[in-house]
Amino acid sequence: MTVLIITHVFANESNLSFEQIRNLPIMQSLGHKIFFDTNLSNPPGQACSSCHDPKTAFSDPILDLPVSRGVVEGKTGTINTPIVMYTAFIPAFHFNPEEGLFIGGQFLDGRESSLEAQAKKPFLNPDEMNNPDKASVIEKIRNASYVDEFKLVFGQDALDDVDKAYDYVAAALASFERSAILNPFTSKYDFYLAGVVKLSEQEERGLQLFEAENKGNCAACHPSRPVDGKPPLFTDFTYDNLGVPSNQKILKIKGAEFVDIGLGKTVKDNPNAEVGADNGKFKVSSLRNIAKTAPYMHNGVFTSLKEVVDFYNTRDTDGKWAKPEIAATMNTEELGDLGLSDQEVDDIVVFLRTLSDGYELGEHAMIEQEDAVKLPYVRVEGRDVASKIYSVRMERITADKDFPQYHVTQLEELSLADNSYPNDIPYYSLDTGILEIPAIKKDHENGNQSTYVAQFKQIIPNGNLVFDLTYVKPWQ
Ligand code: HEC
Ligand code: HEC
Repeated sequence: MTVLIITHVFANESNLSFEQIRNLPIMQSLGHKIFFDTNLSNPPGQACSSCHDPKTAFSDPILDLPVSRGVVEGKTGTINTPIVMYTAFIPAFHFNPEEGLFIGGQFLDGRESSLEAQAKKPFLNPDEMNNPDKASVIEKIRNASYVDEFKLVFGQDALDDVDKAYDYVAAALASFERSAILNPFTSKYDFYLAGVVKLSEQEERGLQLFEAENKGNCAACHPSRPVDGKPPLFTDFTYDNLGVPSNQKILKIKGAEFVDIGLGKTVKDNPNAEVGADNGKFKVSSLRNIAKTAPYMHNGVFTSLKEVVDFYNTRDTDGKWAKPEIAATMNTEELGDLGLSDQEVDDIVVFLRTLSDGYELGEHAMIEQEDAVKLPYVRVEGRDVASKIYSVRMERITADKDFPQYHVTQLEELSLADNSYPNDIPYYSLDTGILEIPAIKKDHENGNQSTYVAQFKQIIPNGNLVFDLTYVKPWQ
């Protein structure tokens, strides 16, 4: 672990109190521990991370089953486990009267409004972590190795009242889900948007096909361009029925009659809903990290990206596709007969692979020499604070090779009038207290790039902020 010292500049920018800035990262680190704690199931053995594994962008790594296995032998869910990355950006479930559409919400049918509400469910779900009640989850937290951290964040009496304590558990998990670890924005496409790398010719063609209304038309539902300077999330958070066929593997477990009607269930008593009109609709998936999260669709019926794009292309023209799970509400206007050539299908698939986080930036390695770091841009931003760009140079001030400390020797505010600065490299959030420095070091032995996250640690008396620089393995 390395300690970085960055001078006053960040400290004065925020409307949050120092106390608040300090507590946010501790809460995230606590959420991180809860997320990976396999003692929180009944019997022990399953954590959130068992189904949401960082190796597969926090989705379920098993490929032989479209659904996830519960901690109890023989139990499974009914839905393909989605990524938890970028779920922090899903808006609360609501109805948009202008468009006449339901938007947002957690889970593929939007049945929980917020990350906090969602996080309370898996612990008590008999098909997942199988605890009988909240009290038994809290009892496990009382015996957890991180109980002192829990009390540090939420107060010494935080575990006395079961309902309140359960709310705190959900708050810590949601806070972790909002952290830079799950929202890195370090894909090749992000760096392309930032003007730092070029796409290959085929990737570029794929992007054009993805966006063209008379070709893939994918961006109609999976927006691919920044809005208000915010990087695209590749979902508009609406709901649709693509006419996906049933997955026989799920019917084998749940019975031949099993159908999940998706959004239809969530809105059955909603005054804005028309009876039956939302059956078979599921939330538009983010395509970030899509290359890592097979199988695809809510029922995992497709095993490769090529099969997915082929389906969009030929659903209505090729007899090989089984009939839709629910035909009545199927979208017949925007997909099904795209007329793409084989080459064009491949181009789109190749483009989709640029959406995986952890892209190695090559010559943008930023530790120039052993003893100096130059960050051409640091974007500093907070909830109520306009973003500013700085260029930072840091020199090593200790001789210790394993725990070097850096301190800032040069700090210049940059004004880039045309907003052409890289959106995400490196990025300091005043809200989360995390400075993220993607791909700064080249490993001399094997030539690999590494990604680091600098986690705000403390404010030292002269007003400097101290960071722990932790190594984050590039996602596989
Ligand atoms: C047994 C596997 C399993 C475990 C354990 C599990 N999840 Fe999930 N998770 C799923 C499945 C399946 C879904 C989708 C369910 C649905 O949409 O109905 C999901 C959905 C989610 C979503 C919503 C994603 C979206 O796009 O709407 C979030 C967030 C999430 N899980 C977080 C967690 C957290 C936090 C934990 C631990 C408290 C956890 N999960 C434990 C399988 C699991
Ligand atoms: C009309 C809106 C719409 C259009 C157009 C559209 N999609 Fe989708 N996409 C969705 C919805 C909704 C889902 C989730 C459906 C489900 O799970 O049943 C989805 C899911 C996906 C998935 C699987 C996600 C996962 O995590 O399993 C991929 C991959 C995908 N779309 C790629 C594309 C590509 C490529 C195109 C263009 C050829 C495209 N989409 C066009 C709405 C759309």
